[in-house]
Formats: sequence, structure tokens, C-alpha cells
Amino acid sequence: MQRMTAPAEWRCSAAELTPGRTTKFRLECRGRGVEGFVVNHDGEYHAYVNRCPHVGTPLDLWPNEFFAEDGRTFICSTHGALYEPATGYCTAGPCAGDSLTRLPLRREGDILVVTCP
Ligand code: FES
Repeated sequence: MQRMTAPAEWRCSAAELTPGRTTKFRLECRGRGVEGFVVNHDGEYHAYVNRCPHVGTPLDLWPNEFFAEDGRTFICSTHGALYEPATGYCTAGPCAGDSLTRLPLRREGDILVVTCP
């Protein structure tokens, strides 16, 4: 039986990721599965590993729900750490001063391409 593996890069249409939206994906990086997400924050795209630096759980309790009620800040569903979408910097909570792990993201025309770090 063939094992299903995630690709080493992930692509999506930039036009479909409108401002304020996020989308999730999986990469295979050096034999390890990595779950990530991309955000369109004020027209700029950023990709991060979906892993809170506090204890390593995914940020989203409900799939693809990353924003706090303000719609402008990421919130970790486990203990409520807050993050800036543009930088991944944690501004409040148990891991304040730490950051999400950024994933390399480039644009090829209308296509966003995220790769392993
Ligand atoms: S695991 Fe995210 S704040 Fe604790």
C-alpha cells in the first residue's frame, strides 16, 4: 500500500485568500509533517507553522479559526496567547515575547508558494 505524504511545497491562489482570511495546509519537511497556515493581513501574505510556542499545540481549536474577536489578532485556543499576524510576535499570554515560526512564502504571479524552512 502506498503511503500518502504531504508535498514539500504548497500552492494556492492569492486572489482566493482575501484580506482577513486564513487557510491551512500540510507540508512534508525532511520526513516530518508540518501543519501551517497562511493569512492575508491587510493585503500582505504571511505563512506560519500552526504551533503555539508555549506548549506546542495548534492555535486553532476549530479548524482554520485563528483570529480573536477583534478579527485583527491571532489567538491560541489553548491558553489565549495573542499574536500579531504581520510578524507572528506574541504580544500577550504565557509566551509573550516569543514568536510563531515563519515559513518561506513567495509569489509566482497570482499563486502563493509556501515551502519548508
Ligand atoms: S499553548 Fe498556546 S498559549 Fe498555551
